[in-house]
Amino acid sequence: MSTHNVWTHKGTFLLAAVGSAVGLGNLWRFPYLTGENGGGAFILVYALTIFAVGIPILIAETMLGRTSRRSPIMGMRHLTKTHGTSRAWESIGWLGAASAFLILSFYSVIAGWAIHYTGQMFSGALVGADSETIGAGFDALLASPWLLTGYHTIFIIASALIVGMGIHKGIESGLRIIMPALFAILLLVLFYSIANGDIGAAATFLFTFNIADLSLEGWLQAMGQSFFTLSLGMGAIMAYGAYMSSEASLTRTAVAVAFVDTAVAMVAGLAIFALVFGAGLETGQGPGLMFVTLPLAFAEMPFGALVGGVFFILVLGAAISSSISLIEPVAAFLVERFDLTRPKAVGAVTLGAWLMGLLTVVSFNVWAEGTLFHALFGRSAFDFIELLTNIFMPLGGLLIALFAGWALTQSEVMKELRTSEGWFKTWRFLVRFVAPAAVSFVFLRTIPQVDG
Ligand code: PFF
Ligand code: NA
Repeated sequence: MSTHNVWTHKGTFLLAAVGSAVGLGNLWRFPYLTGENGGGAFILVYALTIFAVGIPILIAETMLGRTSRRSPIMGMRHLTKTHGTSRAWESIGWLGAASAFLILSFYSVIAGWAIHYTGQMFSGALVGADSETIGAGFDALLASPWLLTGYHTIFIIASALIVGMGIHKGIESGLRIIMPALFAILLLVLFYSIANGDIGAAATFLFTFNIADLSLEGWLQAMGQSFFTLSLGMGAIMAYGAYMSSEASLTRTAVAVAFVDTAVAMVAGLAIFALVFGAGLETGQGPGLMFVTLPLAFAEMPFGALVGGVFFILVLGAAISSSISLIEPVAAFLVERFDLTRPKAVGAVTLGAWLMGLLTVVSFNVWAEGTLFHALFGRSAFDFIELLTNIFMPLGGLLIALFAGWALTQSEVMKELRTSEGWFKTWRFLVRFVAPAAVSFVFLRTIPQVDG
């Protein structure tokens, strides 16, 4: 393969990787997991994992994409051949593609909820509503497989259209519009929450901790979240890395991505909890935090309908800039391996993930708690898929770290990283020892606890 695609500019990979990283993980999952797991202690584990494990793996995963210049599965096959290592490493590509597919399936369903709430907010339907009304509205949404499927369909088709138009006309052009708008809206929401909420209480909740508050499952969730939020171990970063300019710095770019992603999570957390505390509401609502508690807070605030609507647009933009990065690795594989046209490949991936997403849809109604499925498996299909991805992501990351740190020819890696000897050694120590140890530690401590 001599003619490969590359992004238009040296900096486009950064834009694309930030687009992938910043998403529902920052705006929806991070705040609710933090709320459920008692605040600061959760954030501590999360932040430590990002810096000691996440950044080194982010560098490694980008490097695998850029040196192979292929989609994750074919790229791993290529690297194992050229470095004369075991074909078993190809599992990194397969595991990544499987996780990307699974995540896309539920990601699209949740993003669909945000479509619903964008309409609810802008129409003013929730102005002045009380908690019973808003809670009942959310329950009614979840109880309807048809509504959920409708929104899921709209969202996944919109994502597919962008990816189907190609990496330049679709992904790059889309991100050039979406990303600046996101940052502007996030700042607006932050200022609004400072003016109308209790930012002091939010900061106390987020930044004071008692490590004993964190359950074992909380540890796994914090680690899973740090992989999820950086889009790691899923082939997304590898696929984007394949288009990265050879001139851009791998290390600097990875640090920038992690920094922006963490900053967005913190700002979103501060803003959301400021609004929640300001309205005298509770933090431990689980997945409903953004869809029940937050609309309730907006319901009582000045211009709440307008700002709330804009907030849900932010959620949608962040979600779509991430979902396209979940389609790309699998679609690019189909194009490379089976010579499909891009639109066909994207159509196939999207259709598959759409069907899989129906499992998440019915987890909230037809197969919810109290039904046979739930009784048989002890959890909903959605919880099961989420648990799987929480295990696959760190596992994929672990394999990437081991492959980059031990299997690849280190002189070539050093050339790729183009950084000082000191930084190279630091990175290598982290991927060789620290990342594998951290992932194994959390696995060994928590997996036996995670039963039905
Ligand atoms: N990083 C995204 C978020 O935080 O919402 C989610 C995600 C996107 C995970 C792409 C994995 C991925 F490949
Ligand atoms: Na994220």
